[in-house]
Parts: sequence; C-alpha cells; structure tokens
Amino acid sequence: MRLVAAELVESRQILPGQWLQSFHAPELASGSRAGQFVHVRTGDYSGLVLRRPFSINTTDAATGIITLHFRTVGRGTEWLTRVREGERLDMLGPLGKPFEVDSRSRHLLLVAGGLGMAGVRMLADEAIRDGRQVTILFGALSANHVYPSTLLPDEVEYVVATDDGSMGHHGYVTELVSEYEAWADQAFACGPHPMLARLAQLAAGRRERLGVAKLGRKRGGGKVDPLGSAAARRKAFLQVSMEQTMGCAVGACLGCTVMGVEGPLRVCREGPVFASDEIAWPDR
Ligand code: FES
Repeated sequence: MRLVAAELVESRQILPGQWLQSFHAPELASGSRAGQFVHVRTGDYSGLVLRRPFSINTTDAATGIITLHFRTVGRGTEWLTRVREGERLDMLGPLGKPFEVDSRSRHLLLVAGGLGMAGVRMLADEAIRDGRQVTILFGALSANHVYPSTLLPDEVEYVVATDDGSMGHHGYVTELVSEYEAWADQAFACGPHPMLARLAQLAAGRRERLGVAKLGRKRGGGKVDPLGSAAARRKAFLQVSMEQTMGCAVGACLGCTVMGVEGPLRVCREGPVFASDEIAWPDR
C-alpha cells in the first residue's frame, strides 16, 4: 500500500452520470491486481479528510496509467468530475484482496451489473494477457446505460442484458448464466447485492449438480484450505466483489462489514473479493 500523488491525464463522461478518468500513477499501475481498489481524497467541504473508494478499473504498467470508472453519487464524486488535467490527487492503494484465478482455468465468466463493470474490468485484461478466454455478461437498466464495447479488449465476448429489453437479452443478466455455466471454469462477479446473491445461489446449485466441490478437493490434493484464504478462493467456482460504503478503508472503523458464514467480514480488509460461499446470503 502506497500513498501517491496521482496526476489526472484524461477525464470523460462515458455514460449518463458515469465517468472514466485516467491518472498517471506508476506505483499503482505496476503494483495492483484485479479486484483491488484505491482510496482517493476528494474535495474537503467539512474540515474532515474525505476519501472515496474506487475499484481499479485498468492499469498499464508501461505508461504508468491507471483508470477509475465511477458514477456521480454525491459531492465527492461531483467534485472529482471537475478536477482538471494536470492536477494531482492524493491516492492510497492498492487496497483489499484481489481476484484469485486458478492456474488451470482457461475459460473465465465475468458477470457485471451496472457500475459493477469497474470491479471486473481489469480481470479481463489480466486473463487475456495470460492466454485465457473471457466472456462478460453485463446487465443494465436500458441501452443508454450499457457499458461501451469499445472500452473492452477485442478478445472478449460481450453479452448484454437490459431490464427493459432495449438492447440484448430482455431481463436480468443472471438469466444468461445457465448458457455459459458449463463452459466456464470459474466465474467472477461485481454488481448489486441481489445480483450477487442470485449468482451465489446458482453457483451452489452447480456444485450440487456437477460435483464441483469434489473436484475442488482434488485440485488441492485433498488438503482443505481455510475459508477466506487465497488458496480457498482460487478453488471457488464463483468469486464476488462486494460494493460497500467505506470509512477508513484499512480495516479500523468496522464501517464496511458484511455478514459471513463464520462472522462479520470487513469488505475493505478481508475483501472486497470473497468466494461466494464465504458470505451469509439472505434466503431467497
Ligand atoms: S472501511 Fe473501515 S473497516 Fe472497512
């Protein structure tokens, strides 16, 4: 984790209320992994130091550029849209636990809902770089809110669902998963809590039908890895990146906890990425 002065080099609105900003921050561009986030100090309106967490959207170690994709939801993010090129922001990161991909996984299914694309976007780059095939299932309210395919690598298969049917599948993105479930070696998701809960339910059903739990033990040579460890997450079919309001972002304030099957989990510290079976999902 480092505290860096990240220089804004480009800022543009890519969707209604959603922005993509590029920062020159070589220390973060070369030391971050997909799933991690940064804590950015935004405008100070109250005398308090205000920071906001943002998933690291992409990194480019060669140019030292990292990008952040965010929605304007309040004064801090609105302030961010008014930062001018050349200005420097105080950025702390990389923070949190990354996605863990099994070395034998060749086919990755990424599922994103709305701004959840920012949570999985970097994983697509990492996976393609490592020679894997990637399909992204993306869900949005309508065509106006669909993440532009031009911002994705050419190698990605991109499948869209919209709630109103104005583009792609008419319905929820989770309804597309059954078509890809058998193809995928692992799945990774970020989006609204109900979407993640439904995916967790589908993943549990898959485990029962296909015996994936047995396969998981075989992958680890019979050893049972502790829940929450990187090794256990690497064996999970589904990993989820949880979105949660944060305070300190370094594990001190307990303001970001979610309930896990073994007790509370801090999204900023134990997460934001979890294996789906670590989370105590509400009964549906
Ligand atoms: S934000 Fe403070 S413990 Fe997570």
